[in-house]
Amino acid sequence: MVLKNFIVFEGIDGAGTSTQIKKLVEKGCNECGEGAFLATAEPTTGETGRFLRRMLGGDFSVDEKTNAYLFAADRCEHIFGKGGVEELCKAGKTVVSDRYFFSSMAYQSVSCGEELPRLLNSPFPLPEYLFYFVINPEVSLGRVTSRGEKKEIYETIEKQKKIAAQYEKVISGYEKTAAESGMKIIRIDAEKSIDEISAEIWEKLKK
Ligand code: TYD
Repeated sequence: MVLKNFIVFEGIDGAGTSTQIKKLVEKGCNECGEGAFLATAEPTTGETGRFLRRMLGGDFSVDEKTNAYLFAADRCEHIFGKGGVEELCKAGKTVVSDRYFFSSMAYQSVSCGEELPRLLNSPFPLPEYLFYFVINPEVSLGRVTSRGEKKEIYETIEKQKKIAAQYEKVISGYEKTAAESGMKIIRIDAEKSIDEISAEIWEKLKK
């Protein structure tokens, strides 16, 4: 099932999704009115999301299967909780999320296999639009490194290469069934300039 008005951006770390979400929400609000477009992200700023941020920062580690459950729990509140994405989209807002269950299917599947993330994420609706940012992991990790912040647990070149390959597998699977599912998937060349990418995204959505 597709949740209308729900847009998701996905890609490996450093692909530029956060920058593009800011630009899209700004443009959407300018064109369609203040508050018409809302930005959100996973992990969320809620309790489970904050717990996950500590795990990502390396404060503690748990089995990757446990992570799959935790990301799905955070997502459940994000989508179905009071004032969540489903409620907002049904009220006519356009909600743009930095990451969604495709991230679990890429990141967690690398070390805990595909079955559990698929199972845990089967109750969630598909977004109306999925923008998939494609980038060479060397380039994107270079961007992450140049920020000078402490690296999170998945931010090594070996892991990013495996995650990129898994993303490709997951997204191409959804591309094959897009005609039936109704989810529109758009691949973005994330090595293009910020302005080129944001113009491309707006072009796809303005209709
Ligand atoms: P990211 O989206 O890059 O946010 P920020 O730029 O604020 O650090 O970081 C979130 C990390 O969490 C990223 O490495 C991907 C990972 N992640 C998963 O492993 N599984 C998931 O289901 C989600 C939503 C994120």
